[in-house]
Amino acid sequence: MVVDSDDIETVAVIGAGEMGRGIGAVAALAGYKTAITDIDESQLEEAAEQIEWSYEKRVEKGNATDEEVNAALERLVFTTEFDEAVGDADFATEAAVEQQTVKEDIFADLDAAAPEDAILATNTSGLNITQLAETTDRPEQVIGTHWFNPPMLMELVEVVMTEHTPDSVADTAEELVESFGKTSIRCKMDIPSFIVNRLMRPYGEGPAWMVYRGEYSIEEIDSAMRYKEGFPMGPFELADFTGGIQIRVEGEQDHLEDDRPMAYDTEVCPLLHQLYEKERYGQKAGAGYYEYDEHDEPQISVDTGQDFDTLLVWAPILNEAAKMVENEVASAEDIDTGARLGGNWPVGPLEKTDEVGADVVLEKLTEIASRHKDTNKLAETLPCDLLVQKAKNGETFH
Ligand SMILES: NC(=O)c1ccc[n+]([C@@H]2O[C@H](COP(=O)([O-])OP(=O)(O)OC[C@H]3O[C@@H](n4cnc5c(N)ncnc54)[C@H](O)[C@@H]3O)[C@@H](O)[C@H]2O)c1
Repeated sequence: MVVDSDDIETVAVIGAGEMGRGIGAVAALAGYKTAITDIDESQLEEAAEQIEWSYEKRVEKGNATDEEVNAALERLVFTTEFDEAVGDADFATEAAVEQQTVKEDIFADLDAAAPEDAILATNTSGLNITQLAETTDRPEQVIGTHWFNPPMLMELVEVVMTEHTPDSVADTAEELVESFGKTSIRCKMDIPSFIVNRLMRPYGEGPAWMVYRGEYSIEEIDSAMRYKEGFPMGPFELADFTGGIQIRVEGEQDHLEDDRPMAYDTEVCPLLHQLYEKERYGQKAGAGYYEYDEHDEPQISVDTGQDFDTLLVWAPILNEAAKMVENEVASAEDIDTGARLGGNWPVGPLEKTDEVGADVVLEKLTEIASRHKDTNKLAETLPCDLLVQKAKNGETFH
């Protein structure tokens, strides 16, 4: 027996860091009795303070009443006692550090301590959920619920299925996420990076190669994507903001060893390695693609990118989105919703393909592939069959 969404009353969150505290705050405000647990007492203390602060902000902005937030605070428990936190949970989600072995241990403990019918979820950004499921005696009750930062404000949650997850469990997880006031999208396969970060990868990687080959400047591309296309940030300023250089380089080996469907088999652009070796990790390190000694943000002028052909950046992303549809990872609607709500993109990638035409995207991909003929990026830039078919038949995704 697996719990039904109507019967979920109690939620447990393991890990009281940035994400865990936000997820707990959302669950309690939505009416669930919520326990947050962590191995570090001081993290729990900080979490309690921060949740109270974020609730106050909600009230100030008129998005909640004093009564609502007071009731939510009453529903919250903070404890270092793992068994106490998860013992009567109908839904438990893990939001501890991003390390496979730590998460596998947590899942084994969860399996032992949580009620038999409970659903066990992970907030991993990209680790192997199938392996986590297989550390338990209930792999069919394990699922990914991937939130975006900060959970209180970001509307999207990706629900990630593994080969063991039945539709009924994914349905329950989606209903729960919707009851939190969030929008869910379904990633029907446990693939590296799931949906939204899968789109983010070519957004960073393609432009890095163009700069590495000396074809365009960092400012030119950032300016064009920000001001001509309406992205919240250009690819380079975004990488500096999120620490993307470090994440990509340090994650490269894991990606190359990953054996899940649609695993990445290409190396990171050498430009990222060059920056990494100089410890130019991004904004927090004081330098990345840009220098941050004088200003907190890069100074990017509107004019610099006016002549840049933005389809050079878009085309590999549109190809990646089409590949996900082709492999039945997600629907075109969910991929577009993910890009808009998870990445704050001005338009979803498949809507964009429909707008410019699959034949035009195909032409651009051929041009990009010719520039990659000497690199191992070539395979990734080759158009997928579905895109070729759409171009040939003049079809759209929507
Ligand atoms: N920060 C983001 O933008 C973001 C976005 C989406 C998903 N995620 C994922 O969410 C998870 C948490 O990320 P975060 O940014 O909140 O990390 P964080 O470092 O802020 O918090 C991690 C917390 O886990 C606790 N912890 C470590 N081992 C534990 C254990 N065995 N049991 C219980 N608690 C333990 C730590 O004490 C810490 O409080 C990661 O898997 C991360 O990849 C992060």
